[in-house]
Amino acid sequence: MSETPSSGEVNNATQNAGPTGTSATSSDEQLSSLQKQEESYVPSAEVKARAHVADFDALYEKSIADPQAFWAEQAQGLEWFSPWHEVMQWQAAPPQVKWFLNAQFNITVNALDRHVKHGRRNKVALLWVGEPGGGQDGATTAPERALTYGQLLRRVNQCANVLKGLGVQQGDRVTLYMGLTPELPIAMLACARIGAIHSVVYGGFSAPALRSRIEDSQSKVVICTDIGYRRGKRINLKGAVDEAVEGLESVEKVLVYRRDPATTLNSDLEIDFETALDAESAECEPARLDSETPLFFLYTSGTTGKPKGVVHVHGGYAVGTSYTHKICFDYHEDDIYWCTADPGWITGHSYVVYGPLINGATVLLAEGALDFPDAGRWWSVIEKYGVNIFYSTPTAIRALMRFGEEYPAKYDLSSLKVMGTVGEPINPEAWLWYHKNIGHEKTPIVDTWWQTETGQFMIATVPSYPTKPGSPGKPLPGIEADVADKEGHPVEPGKGGFLVIKKPWPAMMRTIYKDPERYEKYWNTIPGLYSAGDVATKDEEGYIRVMGRADDVMNVSGYRIGTAEVESALVSHAAVAEAAVIGKPDPVKGENIKAFVILRQGNEPSEQLMTSLKQQVREELGPIAIPGEIEFVGSLPKTRSGKIMRRVLKAKELGVEPGDISTLED
Ligand code: PRX
Repeated sequence: MSETPSSGEVNNATQNAGPTGTSATSSDEQLSSLQKQEESYVPSAEVKARAHVADFDALYEKSIADPQAFWAEQAQGLEWFSPWHEVMQWQAAPPQVKWFLNAQFNITVNALDRHVKHGRRNKVALLWVGEPGGGQDGATTAPERALTYGQLLRRVNQCANVLKGLGVQQGDRVTLYMGLTPELPIAMLACARIGAIHSVVYGGFSAPALRSRIEDSQSKVVICTDIGYRRGKRINLKGAVDEAVEGLESVEKVLVYRRDPATTLNSDLEIDFETALDAESAECEPARLDSETPLFFLYTSGTTGKPKGVVHVHGGYAVGTSYTHKICFDYHEDDIYWCTADPGWITGHSYVVYGPLINGATVLLAEGALDFPDAGRWWSVIEKYGVNIFYSTPTAIRALMRFGEEYPAKYDLSSLKVMGTVGEPINPEAWLWYHKNIGHEKTPIVDTWWQTETGQFMIATVPSYPTKPGSPGKPLPGIEADVADKEGHPVEPGKGGFLVIKKPWPAMMRTIYKDPERYEKYWNTIPGLYSAGDVATKDEEGYIRVMGRADDVMNVSGYRIGTAEVESALVSHAAVAEAAVIGKPDPVKGENIKAFVILRQGNEPSEQLMTSLKQQVREELGPIAIPGEIEFVGSLPKTRSGKIMRRVLKAKELGVEPGDISTLED
């Protein structure tokens, strides 16, 4: 198998055979998965020799002996207007944490000014590659742009001045609904520069989903792109914005970045982004902010139909993201770094924009789909730009795996030094394919476990440390995590339990916007511990394996989607009386959405109705939430108090035992 020394150590492997831990694979496949999981992959001497962290275990011990001293040491590498008086303050009830108290800080000084002042002014900060043909009629090559740190700072300042001119002040919210071009990081950083709070909404969300997020955050300004390109098609982003802001009182202006000069600005609300920025000064003093000043809201799915606005702040977030970006990817000065996530998700915030820019990296941004114009697109980008660090998702790897080994084989991928994965458990088959075909059995893989709420990597390995396929690894230095039972007691190795974090960390969310009770739930579900909502196991050596969510949240292609959100979109259709939704294991997406629907009287199941229900979900939430399967049923399993038992539906679907059904109504 592997040329790289692979010790084949045996650990206490779990039954996590598939992407979600519940895969319906044959017993032969399960057996081979288990064997693969038992192996440890040990990095080469070359990888160890260049590593920032040479002795992970020793660093961990040191960090846990005095976490505050450890995090203060990391924070010292950043630039602060004035120092903190206290590293961390934690109050258990109601839960409240503060890091780097009373310090004055601005994340953009660290992501921009510091580099411009200290030798990176002419280093490329953002290297953008558009979709092949995108934006140029008849063209087949991909458009490219490069912005140096000097240019990026000037553009961010101009954008910040535009926002100021529109009356945006510290604490005001600005919603961003943009495609993947450098203007998205520019707009994010411009908000941060003046202490305004950005709320990026992923371009794949529909107009009503965008509207509810603008409404919840009461944004004063919306910044959008007119169109994006995907698989040769134009995506009309501005159309969704026009619909979303209609009649919303809080929205005073919409800044439109026009990629197509023919796009018309059709209301008094709208301003052309480029013209407005060009007219402004390229100087803008960064706001001197308390380190606990909110930096952004990011809406994510939970167990209710209403997405929650997770709040992150300047100081601790900067420390947590930059530190983990450096150690987990073993980032070095001249590395070309590419994370395939869209900045609309937390991965894009922490590991496309803030973490890498604070470290002064050259960040590659590539627009478009992974298989357009063909399934070699990503590998061609790695070859063309000499990408050194590549960070993607299990779903993407599984999708690319299906196209065959011949695509990566066509390209020179020897520039790769570290490869990452995130968002869902990676099944050993996909891990091994990635290891063999992309990493050529020598590039270390880091599997990073974290969440929108955690802001930064929590459980992972560093490239110099042995990895086990399918396990993100161990708690990182500075992080105390475990697998515990309902009372918070650690479970024995190999036994399932809840993934918990025991102590605060710098990049953790500070609250849920306008919903402190929802924030408290993270800390009081298992008293005194942060409950991540995931089920996991830990082996004898301390490697954690995540099996999936413990709650009613699905993980479709690494995207978090609440069952309640999809159900409420379905019942808003005139023909639907009731709906229940489950995540069903899927070989590529991890989970696929299956909906069970009871129709209102007078409606009959039909193909046409099924299409219309899918369309309803597309309109309400966006294409990522469309159920792959819909089944019309006469009844749904419920508790006596009327709650739908999705667990029972799921067990039936998978042909397994449903567990405790004593509360099921007769
Ligand atoms: O269930 C875990 C899964 O994704 C959830 C967090 O989703 P979100 O907030 O959207 O953030 C995704 C990107 C950080 C977690 O509760 N998850 C994330 N990373 C992994 C993972 N599951 C297994 N392995 C991972 N590496």
